[in-house]
Amino acid sequence: MTANAFTSVSLEPPVVLVSVDKRTATWRYIVESRAFAVNILSGEQEHLARRFAGPHRTLANPFADIAYSRRPGGAPLLRGVLAWLDCTLFRAYDGGDHSLFLGAVRDWDFDASRAPLLFYRGAFVGLRPAPHPNGVVEGSS
Ligand SMILES: Cc1cc2nc3c(=O)[nH]c(=O)nc-3n(C[C@H](O)[C@H](O)[C@H](O)COP(=O)(O)O)c2cc1C
Repeated sequence: MTANAFTSVSLEPPVVLVSVDKRTATWRYIVESRAFAVNILSGEQEHLARRFAGPHRTLANPFADIAYSRRPGGAPLLRGVLAWLDCTLFRAYDGGDHSLFLGAVRDWDFDASRAPLLFYRGAFVGLRPAPHPNGVVEGSS
């Protein structure tokens, strides 16, 4: 599932948090497997964010035409992501109609050459360097 409610929680041990709607299939998968992976999408992967935000539910196999692998615990890692984290369920807290799942990070990797996909004001956008406070653009003379 596509999620943007994701945060780092602890460094020692490494722990992250996702907020998952109790009505989603993903909620049930996490509770049953006690594992999940976080795929941080890159700027070229808007189509994956859209697919796993709901349209995948109409597909027989939403993974059929995309490159991915599975971790030993079963969680899927998508090819071409900015970063991935493979987690086991560390704690679960009630968060109203969502559950706050804390994951203990077992393994991870990242590709520093990629830029992130962002979701802002209801749209997917890329990341651009912020303007310099005194108006100077970094790298220009
Ligand atoms: C940008 C974006 C962010 C989302 N963030 C979350 C989230 O943090 N938690 C959540 O439960 N659903 C979130 N959703 C909705 C889920 O992606 C959607 O309910 C999905 O269909 C669940 O799939 P599943 O039932 O197969 O698990 C988000 C959707 C979008 C488009």
